[in-house]
Amino acid sequence: MLKAEDNFKITQTGPDSSAGRLLRRYWQPVGLEQELEHIRPAKPIRVLGEDLVLFRDTDGEIGLVGRYCPHRGVDLAYGRLEHGGLRCLFHGWLFDRKGACLEQPAEPIESNYYKKIHHKAYPCRVINGMIFAWMGPANSPPMPVLDALNAPESHCFAYKGLIEANWLQATEVGIDPAHASFLHRFFEDDDPSDSYGQQFRDTTVGAKIPVTELLRKHHRPEITIEKTDYGLRIFARRDLQSAGQHIRVTNLVFPSAIVIPMQTDMTITQWHVPIDNERTYWYGLFCSYGEAVDKAKMKEQRDALYDTHIYRPKRNSENGYGFNPDEQKKVTYTGMGMDINVHDNWAVESPGPIQDRTKEHLGTTDRAIIANRRTLLQRIDELENGKEPPVPKFEDGPPLAIDTLCSADDWKSFWRTTAEGRRQSASWAAGSD
Ligand code: FES
Ligand SMILES: [Fe+2]
Repeated sequence: MLKAEDNFKITQTGPDSSAGRLLRRYWQPVGLEQELEHIRPAKPIRVLGEDLVLFRDTDGEIGLVGRYCPHRGVDLAYGRLEHGGLRCLFHGWLFDRKGACLEQPAEPIESNYYKKIHHKAYPCRVINGMIFAWMGPANSPPMPVLDALNAPESHCFAYKGLIEANWLQATEVGIDPAHASFLHRFFEDDDPSDSYGQQFRDTTVGAKIPVTELLRKHHRPEITIEKTDYGLRIFARRDLQSAGQHIRVTNLVFPSAIVIPMQTDMTITQWHVPIDNERTYWYGLFCSYGEAVDKAKMKEQRDALYDTHIYRPKRNSENGYGFNPDEQKKVTYTGMGMDINVHDNWAVESPGPIQDRTKEHLGTTDRAIIANRRTLLQRIDELENGKEPPVPKFEDGPPLAIDTLCSADDWKSFWRTTAEGRRQSASWAAGSD
């Protein structure tokens, strides 16, 4: 439970707000490269409450500038992409990706006025199909050290999805490993519709157990957390008695990203980026330690589930997430289909656009949420008193996320050995450690 003033602090995202100032101290995904694969690579976007235009200039570089022209305020999202910049349609002022005004073609030929105009612009970087922006003060820190950013493009796939709620709600679902036993419960273990129910884990007694059965039957995980130099490492341990221990290790890369296991040879790194206080995009980078990813197939599977214009899931609050009482009785816990992203979206959105945390009652499974809020409030207060947040360090290498079974006595070392071994065996990591 939080005080109302603290809930306000950690949920406000605009440029002059408490959490907004903190979130601007970290690289934020602002788009996918595929969003600029059009005849005219420019689109209006809103990030952290700011209206911007994301574009690829005629030199092939990415720009992110204020949406409204500093001359008389028209919409630069309609601008002309030419001569190394974005040209306003109203009087032809031309801006480059750094916000410099290069031309004012209606002003007198001898005028130097253009040199005095500096438009809002944020530096961008593209990694593995994802466009990151630095929206903080000068001197951006290095990018975080993550497998999804180190792996080659062939082994990564980027996607995004709209969440109609505050960024912290989305992040807090990601650091709550207990919900998988309920929210994502399937009553049958042979779900052929996607890979989730097809996953199995080797038990210590030789048999294989479907993940769906494991989560359903062992619904009281022990949640423990470790503070790390990038955020939190979260363990969910389920005791399967003679069959061993199921360990799921997830990570919070402070303040808004998670690194979580997906399949045995794949992780997802997912950022939760505020559009504004009441809407968020999740940006996911799927990273394979095994085969190269089949991007066309992964894109096709996801495009079928989203309105790709704004990446809104087709199952959303307006259609009750496709809720079907018959399905709820027989097939899934939610009655909202087999796609776990839909379940998560319901959990994030249904408390309302900004959850009233003064009314909640947290339990032992909420340890990571409690620890993270404490850090958030501390960093916000420090920043308000002029102290910059520490630059995240990754002294032990990129965060390791894994979901595995092992025997009871050695799980504390086993998960790490397994996860490190998996990384070392990746073709792209050979010789890098
Ligand atoms: S309003 Fe943009 S150039 Fe005049
Ligand atoms: Fe979930």
